Amino acid sequence: MKIFIDTANVDEIKNITEWGILDGVTTNPTLLAREIKRTGRKPQDILKEICDVVKGPVSAESTATDSRGIYEEGKKLSEISKYITIKVPMTIEGLKAIKLLVGDGIMTNTTLVFSLNQALLSAKVGSTFVSPFIGRIDDTGHNGMDLIDEIITTYDNYGYETEVIVASIRHPMHIVEAAQIGADIVTVPFKVLEKMVKHPLTDIGIKRFEDDWKEAERILKES
Ligand code: E4P
Repeated sequence: MKIFIDTANVDEIKNITEWGILDGVTTNPTLLAREIKRTGRKPQDILKEICDVVKGPVSAESTATDSRGIYEEGKKLSEISKYITIKVPMTIEGLKAIKLLVGDGIMTNTTLVFSLNQALLSAKVGSTFVSPFIGRIDDTGHNGMDLIDEIITTYDNYGYETEVIVASIRHPMHIVEAAQIGADIVTVPFKVLEKMVKHPLTDIGIKRFEDDWKEAERILKES
């Protein structure tokens, strides 16, 4: 399973890149706006630096609403780097724009997907990625992970190549379940990535080994 980070924060991305586990990045207008506010940098500069660091797909969302506007904004964003993936909201205009962008060899990520029908249409137009937002579905009292299961089964039924990015992840159990279902990708906030590493028994084990080793060193010194 590929692991993306869901952030536009360059410091977080550099940090996780050093772990050696990062395959890509997803941003959205909210995340990019947060980074612009934090650093005062231009969005193009932020995205360029992210692409240079990650060297894998980096989703940048188009904010236009008509197909021509989405397409033109996507073309412009794609000039930043070959790694830029145009994130397009799931609408009729979005579908038209995805078809055009894919035709030009530009990677796309259909976003704000909440149903199997939406995911099916995304695959039909050949989107590179599809992003069902499972945390936001959970928030409505339904099980977001059920949708991932349905999409994967349907894509397998027809051999669609669109990769499923499990998005809107809130906690490590979302990742465990996505992996068990066989999702292609999870896009994970920085804080949840940190939680993936942690286990109390690991911490207890490290402490015990340290204590035992110190004791052995003390014995050796005294002998
Ligand atoms: C994914 O592409 C989105 O940027 C993100 O996962 C949305 O997450 P949220 O529902 O926590 O805002």
